[in-house]
Amino acid sequence: MESFEAYLARQSAIMEEALDEYLPGAKEHPSEIYQAMRYSVFAGGKRLRPILCLAAAEAVGGDMQSALPAACALEMIHTYSLIHDDLPAMDNDDLRRGKPTCHKVFGDAIAILAGDALLTDAFVILARAVEKAQGEARAKLDSVIFEIAAAASSRGMIAGQVIDILSEGEKLQRDALEALHSLKTGKLITASVLSGGLLGGASRSQLDSLRRYGRAIGLAFQVVDDILNATGNSGIMGKKTGTDAARGKATFVSIMGVEKARAEARSLIEEAVESIEAFDHRADPLRSLARFIVERKK
Ligand code: IPE
Ligand code: IPE
Ligand code: MG
Ligand code: MG
Repeated sequence: MESFEAYLARQSAIMEEALDEYLPGAKEHPSEIYQAMRYSVFAGGKRLRPILCLAAAEAVGGDMQSALPAACALEMIHTYSLIHDDLPAMDNDDLRRGKPTCHKVFGDAIAILAGDALLTDAFVILARAVEKAQGEARAKLDSVIFEIAAAASSRGMIAGQVIDILSEGEKLQRDALEALHSLKTGKLITASVLSGGLLGGASRSQLDSLRRYGRAIGLAFQVVDDILNATGNSGIMGKKTGTDAARGKATFVSIMGVEKARAEARSLIEEAVESIEAFDHRADPLRSLARFIVERKK
C-alpha cells in the first residue's frame, strides 16, 4: 500500500501541474505581475488546502479531476493571503516558504497587486468552470463558489485578519481566540474540505460530517501554527519564528502554554477523525491528513 508520504508527494505534484496550467505564463505582458504571482505560488507551500479538497472529493466517491479548479482557486487565495499578510503594513515578514517574501523581491506595489490578482484570478477559474459545466455539476460549482467566497470574505478570513491585528498586545480569552482562529484560518480550511465534498457528490449527512471535520482540523491547524511559531525551527519552517511573542499576539501558547496547546491539538484531531467515522477506506487520506496537521514540523 502507498505510504502517506508518497500520497502527499503524488497529490502535490498534481497540484503543481494544475497550478502551472491555470496561472498566466511568466512571459505574458506585463510579465512583472505574472512572475510575482508565480514566485509566491511556486515557492514551496505544503498545498494543504487543495490536497484536502481533492481528498474530500475522493472520500465520498467522487473523482479528483472535477475538483481541480476549486483546488487551484483555494491555493491561489491562500497564497494571496500570505503575500498580503507579510507586507510591511501587516506582519512585516522577510521570509516565506523558505524564500524572501514577495514584496522583498518585487517591491510593495507589485506584491499588493500579485495578491489582488491571485484572489481575483481564483474566481475567474471558478467562473470558467461553471461556464463549462452543465446540470447538476453546475449547481455544485455554484455552491462551491459561495463556500469559498464566504470563507475569504469580510465576514471570514478578512475579519480574522482584522481582529488579529487589532488584538496585538491584548490578552484574549480562549473563546475570543478560538473565534479569531476560526475566522482567520478555519473558514478557508473548512471551505476546502466542503468544496471537495460538494464536487465529489457528498450527501447532506456527509457534508455535515465534513463540516465538523473541517472545523476541528482548521482549529488544530492554527493551534499547531501557534506552537510552531513558539518552538519551531525557522530553517525547517521557511518563515521566521518567535514573532507572535515579539508582537504580543494572543495565541494558544500564550494563554495555555505549549503542553496544553499540544494536548488540545491532539484532541481536536481525534474529534476530526470521529466526525468521519462513518466514511469507508476512501476517507483514509482525510484521516492521515488530520494526523499530519498536528505532527507537522513546518
Ligand atoms: C500558513 O499556512 C499561514 C496560516 C494560514 C497560518 P500554511 O502552513 O498552510 O502555509 P504553506 O502554504 O504551507 O506555506
Ligand atoms: C496568517 O496568519 C493567516 C492568513 C494569511 C490568513 P499568521 O500571520 O499568524 O501566520 P504566519 O506566521 O504569517 O504564517
Ligand atoms: Mg498575520
Ligand atoms: Mg504572518
